[in-house]
Amino acid sequence: MKINGKHQHTIWVNEADSGKIQVFDQRYFPHRIELFDITHTDQAAFAIKEMVVRGAPLIGVTAAYGMYLGCIEAKQQDNPQAYLDLVADKLNATRPTAVNLSWAIGEMQRSVSQIESWDGKIDIALKRANEIKQEDINICENIGKHGLELIRSIADKKDGTVNILTHCNAGWLATIDWGTALSPIYQAQREGIPVHIWVDETRPRNQGANLTAFELVHQNVPHTLINDNTGGHLMQRGMVDMVIVGTDRTARNGDVANKIGTYLKALAAHDNDVPFYVALPSSSLDCSIENGLRDIPIETRGQNEVRYIQGKVDGEVKSVLICPEETSALNYGFDVTPAKYITGLITERGVTEASENGIRSLFPEKFEI
Ligand code: MRU
Repeated sequence: MKINGKHQHTIWVNEADSGKIQVFDQRYFPHRIELFDITHTDQAAFAIKEMVVRGAPLIGVTAAYGMYLGCIEAKQQDNPQAYLDLVADKLNATRPTAVNLSWAIGEMQRSVSQIESWDGKIDIALKRANEIKQEDINICENIGKHGLELIRSIADKKDGTVNILTHCNAGWLATIDWGTALSPIYQAQREGIPVHIWVDETRPRNQGANLTAFELVHQNVPHTLINDNTGGHLMQRGMVDMVIVGTDRTARNGDVANKIGTYLKALAAHDNDVPFYVALPSSSLDCSIENGLRDIPIETRGQNEVRYIQGKVDGEVKSVLICPEETSALNYGFDVTPAKYITGLITERGVTEASENGIRSLFPEKFEI
């Protein structure tokens, strides 16, 4: 996807220095477009934890490159394998909800374990991280193709623009390219289907206002920012044709963890017969969890994300306190939407029911022990 007309990915290996991984620093979008260099595993862990990069698929790919840097660092250690194990633990501990993180680290560990020498491990680690990145691009493009058919069928039935509500940012900035929830929208736009997006601001970090709106501006997709409490009202008035959101982890029963507030949108959609879809790559499936509502770990983040709000003041990005100094806050990063409220899962292999049977029909290998 594009920034200022130029096609970009969210993460890449520096052309002149293969030990330098570069990402856009998403903490300052849309006001400042800055790069962040990752040359050490501590920086990879920092980038994920502090949300320089965020979004489940991009978290996974960043961790994959972190493991590659871990191999470079391990080679200098007395006990390289013990060092690499510690790097895996450090990266795994950064954010608990997005399962793409542990999935990508596991993939890297498997690849590296097949080679004896540390020079060989470094080479295979870079190759596998590049592959995981490319796979994510292909997967997101395919999610878009399947989701496009859902948008097309709504467009065929109605005269005029298809209004789609989305929560948080599950666009290309959360992945490498295309996005998950936004990929069908970009593909609909290319097909000439008129779409308009309701963008939930997504407090506390405002990924909708800061990132989704930024993407849509740069792709020229018509959109309107709404505060987090407006969606239900729009649905009651027939102003939303469908909802598409992303997910950080989907359990085998079809329960979906996504950014806090997703559940309330699903309830409102259910009450108003608005189709509610979740777009996901198979790397976000966790079939080891039988009941998502009960068992998906939910990240709790610092209270200052709720107490303060960040924006542009006099040309500078600043934070302002929005409550009394004495007031404490609770900041759950995610919630779980039970499968019963989900119309369908949009995956790289097609659209399926949010249930064990539905997931098994498309991804039988995920159920092999
Ligand atoms: O806290 P974030 O910004 O990492 O949360 C992101 C989301 O909740 C996304 O919807 C999810 O990761 C899916 S991204 C394709």
